[in-house]
Amino acid sequence: MPNDDAAWWRDGVLYQIYVRSFADTDGDGIGDLQGVIDHLDHLAWLGVDGIWLSPIHPSPNTDWGYDVADYLDVHPELGDLQTLDRLVAEAGARDIRILLDLVPNHTSDRHAWFVDARSSREAEHREWYVWADPRPDGSPPNNWLSVFGGPAWELDPATGQCYLHNFLPEQPDLNWWNREVHDAFDDIMGFWFERGIAGFRIDVANGLVKDAELRDNPPPTGEDPPEVLRRGQRFVHNMNRPEVHDVYRRWRTLADASGRVLVGETWLFDPEVLATFYGSDLDELHLCFNFSFMFANLEANALRAIVEATDAAFPEGAQPAWTGSNHDVGRFPSRWCAGDPARIRCSLMTLLTLRGTPFLYYGDEIGMTEVPVVGEDVRDGPGLIGEAQVVRDPGRTPMQWTDQPGAGFTRGDVRPWLPIGDRRAINVESQRRDRGSMLHLCRDLIALRRETPDLRSGSYASLPSPKEAWTWRRGSSTTVAVNLSGVSVTVPVEAGVIAIGTDRSRDGETVDEDLSLGPWEGAVLRVAPASAGPGGRPRPRS
Ligand code: GLC
Repeated sequence: MPNDDAAWWRDGVLYQIYVRSFADTDGDGIGDLQGVIDHLDHLAWLGVDGIWLSPIHPSPNTDWGYDVADYLDVHPELGDLQTLDRLVAEAGARDIRILLDLVPNHTSDRHAWFVDARSSREAEHREWYVWADPRPDGSPPNNWLSVFGGPAWELDPATGQCYLHNFLPEQPDLNWWNREVHDAFDDIMGFWFERGIAGFRIDVANGLVKDAELRDNPPPTGEDPPEVLRRGQRFVHNMNRPEVHDVYRRWRTLADASGRVLVGETWLFDPEVLATFYGSDLDELHLCFNFSFMFANLEANALRAIVEATDAAFPEGAQPAWTGSNHDVGRFPSRWCAGDPARIRCSLMTLLTLRGTPFLYYGDEIGMTEVPVVGEDVRDGPGLIGEAQVVRDPGRTPMQWTDQPGAGFTRGDVRPWLPIGDRRAINVESQRRDRGSMLHLCRDLIALRRETPDLRSGSYASLPSPKEAWTWRRGSSTTVAVNLSGVSVTVPVEAGVIAIGTDRSRDGETVDEDLSLGPWEGAVLRVAPASAGPGGRPRPRS
């Protein structure tokens, strides 16, 4: 591992790679680990500090790797253990760490543990999964529903019991009341730590433990969000149990013993609840994804409210994580920005200058938008069967490296596993040649963050601004203002200099108290150091 600086994940920028869609080096239309190695120089040039690889393990791919058949190996389509070792070494040589995706909530039904578990009620691994008798009328043991729709129970005819699957029937849930399951995951983590893996993104982090008595989930209350109302039940017994915190306290000791990082996929919308996953003594997860932020509209008031609530709820020292895109929620350049470059620039500026660790998703740096995927091109099985779910393929299409056929992702004569977007309009190669491009903006923001202590670790404080804009102070002398609207605004700021503007022609401009911003324009300013007033807010000018 590169120099073991415990703060790397606080100061750094992380980058998610959906390996199947990053770069195909063997001409099968599927991205692979060698493709990641081949593009490490791009990531080093961009300035990322860590890479999270979506699942790389052997899997029947019913849920594209999130149905793991062997936690200790690499899916042959993506490479092998030796290639992964080389990736870790080559990335380390560039000071980039590699994180894996750990899926502890469920396995594939083809995992040897489950194959054994379902072989008989007395099988060695039977109690590694959650089994219950159907009700006398043959209906499922309780009312729990799968995230992907329909009952969360599947009858296993051979043994006459039902097993729990909070996701697909091909993804049986593990039983986290069983100590052997805990031990197995300790071993899995140790195996990867020894191979130089710098940490894990933990899938379904709030879901591992289920109610021991398998009680029915209660109906929604009036205050519940629309998806809970639609589903008709609150997920309080099939997941979200408090005992899950014991798991993370244990894992934190394993991770900290060797300077590794744990990142939670925490689908939690209450900042107070999200905060609990950091642990009351910061003894659980290092970073937790903030889905409220991802699902908010690109509006000043909405985003500021989430950032302020997060700041207020988090224990001292807890580091927020900010993300716009991932393989489930899709790409922010589409969701937030409708493909508008000015909005994408404002979003990148925001993600890279808030207090917290930014996660970019492959393609965010060039403003890659979602690609329509329909008919026989659809690959996302759960999305197809899910009731509330939508097909996630549009956010998972191949990286657009060049404007050539195959987009530099694969050979021009190969059919990629998912269709390629508009490679002529958006690609890495042409943006690298253009100093004014989105890619250069992203790179320059990352570099500014690296060289500015205020941006790496300074406090956050909202500043007064017109309702269309969002302005905040980082540390003592850095101010960020983004106009998230289609009208021009004037934002009051301390006098200073624009370090980076989304309109790059303004870099270096001196600003005197009033910053004028055009529609969907933002700027990072170096301003005179402010002495913090009550509540950490800079004192008004006298
Ligand atoms: C997580 C993954 C998602 C997957 C689900 C079930 O939410 O991010 O892609 O479908 O878990 O494993």
